[in-house]
Amino acid sequence: MGSSKLLLHFSLILPLLVANLTLGADPYFQARCVDTAGNYTANSTYQANLNTIFSHLTSHPDFNYGFYNLSAGHNPNLVNAVALCRGDTNQDDCNTCLNETVSELRQRCPLYKEVVGWSEFCMLRYANRDLFGELETSPGSCLLNTQDVTDADRFNQALDILLTSLSRLAAAGGPLRKYAADNSTVGVFQIVYAIVQCSPDLSEQECGDCLSVAKYGIGGCCLGKSGCRIFRPSCFLRYESDPFYQTPLPLPSPPPSPPPPPPPQPSTGGDVNQTTLIIINVVASVVGILVLLVTSICIFQRTRNTRQHFLANDDDEVIGNDSLQLDFATAEAVTNNFSDANKLGQGGFGAVYKGVLPDGQEVAVKRLSSDSGQGDLEFKNELLLMAKLQHRNLVRLLGFCLEGHERLLIYEFLPNTSLDHFLFDQVKRAQLDWERRYKIIEGVARGLLYLHEDSRLRIIHRDLKASNVLLDAEMIPKISDFGMARLFARDETHGNTSRVVGTYGYMAPEYVMHGQFSVKSDVFSFGVIVLEIISGQKNNCFRNGETVEDLISSAWKYWRQGTALNIIDPILRDGSRNEMMRCIHIGLLCVQENVAESRGGQNSN
Ligand SMILES: *[C@@H]1O[C@H](CO)[C@@H](O)[C@H](O)[C@H]1NC(C)=O
Ligand SMILES: *[C@@H]1O[C@H](CO)[C@@H](O)[C@H](O)[C@H]1NC(C)=O
Ligand SMILES: *[C@@H]1O[C@H](CO)[C@@H](O)[C@H](O)[C@H]1NC(C)=O
Ligand SMILES: *[C@@H]1O[C@H](CO)[C@@H](O)[C@H](O)[C@H]1NC(C)=O
Ligand SMILES: *[C@@H]1O[C@H](CO)[C@@H](O)[C@H](O)[C@H]1NC(C)=O
Repeated sequence: MGSSKLLLHFSLILPLLVANLTLGADPYFQARCVDTAGNYTANSTYQANLNTIFSHLTSHPDFNYGFYNLSAGHNPNLVNAVALCRGDTNQDDCNTCLNETVSELRQRCPLYKEVVGWSEFCMLRYANRDLFGELETSPGSCLLNTQDVTDADRFNQALDILLTSLSRLAAAGGPLRKYAADNSTVGVFQIVYAIVQCSPDLSEQECGDCLSVAKYGIGGCCLGKSGCRIFRPSCFLRYESDPFYQTPLPLPSPPPSPPPPPPPQPSTGGDVNQTTLIIINVVASVVGILVLLVTSICIFQRTRNTRQHFLANDDDEVIGNDSLQLDFATAEAVTNNFSDANKLGQGGFGAVYKGVLPDGQEVAVKRLSSDSGQGDLEFKNELLLMAKLQHRNLVRLLGFCLEGHERLLIYEFLPNTSLDHFLFDQVKRAQLDWERRYKIIEGVARGLLYLHEDSRLRIIHRDLKASNVLLDAEMIPKISDFGMARLFARDETHGNTSRVVGTYGYMAPEYVMHGQFSVKSDVFSFGVIVLEIISGQKNNCFRNGETVEDLISSAWKYWRQGTALNIIDPILRDGSRNEMMRCIHIGLLCVQENVAESRGGQNSN
């Protein structure tokens, strides 16, 4: 597969990053040796059974559209294996790939009973348990093309639509092959090419679920990059800004449900990107986040003593309706005609401008860009309710304007912008010592608890992230953009939405997979923020020595090893390690995906 040419390519372009790679026949080969399944002993029956499977795979097995379900021996030495070649490979390429994969796995995971390996054109996994027909999304892996895309918003949007439609096609692909490939244009010049594939033994629903998880994985490693491969045991996806796939062999006719006609094959036979790939470990799981409930209670208890105070404030909430409404001309005047100079930022729902009211009060004016799909009266009622949500840790809605198509929200102005501006800035992060960070964590927890439990409306935020935590002059955190989901997403309460709002990297898996949102998905996002505050790292890409992992995986790994202090931002020299450990624990509980694992964490105090 021209791997030497590839290596050369590599070392010429970004020699620095070559150190990150473990090189082999396929320099991008990914293996996961599964610790928890235990080891077999050398020359055991298990090994003999495994060898039987290996020799079958390397001796030109029947092509069977690139899918193999193999098994050897009897319990306790039963070995099951599943192998899958990429949907566009022919028999020869598939055989070569399986052969190489067998020798890679022999070398990389000797003695492990359970192993998963992915290479360019095929994947192979084996274990001492059932694999056939099981949906599995963990362990995972991912490779990214380090080249940035030019217009990330547009690119992501096109990609999202493309992957959603490919996932649907692949899932409907029938029992022989669940594969789909296509391209999509991004703006005028750019094209994104993508393939998705599931193990064909999955049901349509399971395939869709697996690909949703894989899509979610993009946020953990490749957001804003021009290429990415996400590997899961039961499925994978890949996209690039250059063509990399071929026309698949036709299925026997009539196909159970024909996969989409993929494009005529692009020029290059090999694939391989122009830029460097970085290897990332991704841990994901399909298991729900039941433990989050526990965490909610923890937060609840942590803040209970301050609760009375907020309740007492309830009576002061009432505001005269009229004082809230502003006419458009005034809004225009106070923001200098929404001039660029006044623009504070661009959020998901519209641009935000700074303004100064006639009485001298500084305000932030959000000009909603999209139609909320609600009538004026309904919208206004919703806003009046939102205006009553007042809490020290929520950004205060001061007023609004409804005129024609214009819909403006007027908020209190917060001079210190948002948490991400401090946390992820090399210089400014020094202003956030531990005491401040601890107070911010506490404040966000209180604000969220108020939204979830204490307010009359029980608001689920749905897009909680560092950039939605604003800081006032005293660095007191205030959650912004709450209630947007209520204003905009009425029809999504039925959970069958394909367009999930929210931000990759902060979204709970069940939300990404099923569009199910709840108090718990907010708690997941809160956990990500807590870990970001402690580590000073974005969840997107966490550099850790020679590998790049997402923050959550990294934090879990250290926690299990009993070295959780490793994730703490090195700038935090002072500060209570006890408090920090407690916060790491809370953060991890919030992002917990697997109930069983939560009992496994040591150091729990
Ligand atoms: C396994 O078998 C090989 C070859 O038969 C031998 O060299 C090796 O020592 C054996 N290992 C053990 C642990 O018995
Ligand atoms: C796949 O392998 C398992 C384990 O041997 C077996 O139970 C199952 O029937 C096989 N399925 C197919 C479709 O061959
Ligand atoms: C499979 O790989 C082995 C080396 O591991 C090689 O000797 C053999 O020729 C390969 N077979 C095929 C069919 O490529
Ligand atoms: C399994 O074997 C590998 C070496 O192949 C070793 O690194 C690992 O610690 C072993 N795991 C267990 C649970 O014995
Ligand atoms: C993109 O895909 C379409 C089929 O969906 C195909 O006709 C077209 O040639 C492809 N474009 C490129 C540049 O590969």
